[in-house]
Amino acid sequence: MFQIRRCTRIVKTLRSYYTVKSNESVKDPHQVAKQIYSKIKATGPITVAEYMKEVLINPLGGYYMHKDVFGESGDFITSPELNQMFGEMVAIWFLNEWSKVGSPKPIQIVELGPGRGTLSQDLLRVFDHFGALQSATLHLVEVSPLLSDLQARKLCIQSDNIIDKKSVIHRQGISHQGIPVKWYRQLDDVPNCFTLLVAHEFFDALPVHKFQKTKDGYREILIDIDLSKECSFRYVIAREETPASKLYIRPNETREHFEISPESLVLAKQIAERLEIDGGLALIADYGHNGSGTDTFRAFKKHKLHDPLVEPGTADLTADVDFDALSKSATEAGGVITFGPTTQRDFLLKMGIEHRFKALKANAKPDQIEGLEFGYKMMTESNQMGERFKFLALLPAVLEKLLKKYSVAGFH
Ligand SMILES: C[S@@+](CC[C@H](N)C(=O)[O-])C[C@H]1O[C@@H](n2cnc3c(N)ncnc32)[C@H](O)[C@@H]1O
Repeated sequence: MFQIRRCTRIVKTLRSYYTVKSNESVKDPHQVAKQIYSKIKATGPITVAEYMKEVLINPLGGYYMHKDVFGESGDFITSPELNQMFGEMVAIWFLNEWSKVGSPKPIQIVELGPGRGTLSQDLLRVFDHFGALQSATLHLVEVSPLLSDLQARKLCIQSDNIIDKKSVIHRQGISHQGIPVKWYRQLDDVPNCFTLLVAHEFFDALPVHKFQKTKDGYREILIDIDLSKECSFRYVIAREETPASKLYIRPNETREHFEISPESLVLAKQIAERLEIDGGLALIADYGHNGSGTDTFRAFKKHKLHDPLVEPGTADLTADVDFDALSKSATEAGGVITFGPTTQRDFLLKMGIEHRFKALKANAKPDQIEGLEFGYKMMTESNQMGERFKFLALLPAVLEKLLKKYSVAGFH
């Protein structure tokens, strides 16, 4: 996720895409705010995690649920949206590591939170180019009906919504390359099979609890209504311990202020179990830290930072990913090993993005060159996305010996 500051360049820079209209049935932009307000009024302050979940994925007016939030006309830009090179490097990573273990088949490609479906589109294109789509299926974990629609338009020659409430699949179709594509609301519902899983800018959207050091020890930060203004909110510090502060705070914690995302930790465990049992590889890419992050909960609206408590549902909410915590959760049971986190810059350069950039530039039309250069710099320069974004790889622990001999691409 990134703000675009140099707006004059955007038109030439961004990739073309399908757009879909926002769902007109969601007419009231303050719907989520009103719901949260009523809830707090009735039952008292809520956790930041509860607030974040309501604001982002409330079925009625959640931020992601009924509008296209990406790109120039949206609130932020992501790497796959900037340029095809990002998805190509990720695809090459998967193909390389998959071939190291003998290219077992069948495979399922799984993407968590596919946004506009652009990364999956690039993965399928590259896999197809290398003849790697026989016996492959694509599985998308997405809660937003509108984004699922956008993804289907981009990826499929044909697709249908599934209305049966008992079905864990809410949409299915056939990709342009002829492979089955299925949509789920949670990873747990995706079938068990050798899995190539990617999550780009997904974990940062998962809810976090916030904690603050006080003279009485750590206390959770909650969200209460602000009675001084109509339908507005404020942070308060819990007077007593909360279930989250009892459960999640490490005994050796020293930070003044920090965030924990239990949902992310559970998901990291689920990914690890899947890789251990079914075999597979996972790549998690996001902005984040290695256990040192403090107050990172923030909002983006129209490419600018925004107060997370103002007009909830109209801006993206996000928090930096704690890669150290993710890695510990994934490796706790001993079934997987992790590599990284390494910076996006290092990962992309080690995967050869420079060579791809030169090749694309050599074949580009004059009016495409500026966009290519802009995308390349945004993705790789240290003061842009290059340092803040990190990559973490998860592989089955049984491969440890093999990976000592043939090291994991992008991480060494
Ligand atoms: C910041 S966007 C990232 C999009 C895409 N990966 C990219 O890089 O362009 C987050 C995506 O995760 C989805 N999402 C957010 N929370 C989710 C949840 N709890 N379960 C499933 N999908 C979720 C959103 O609808 C959206 O597709």
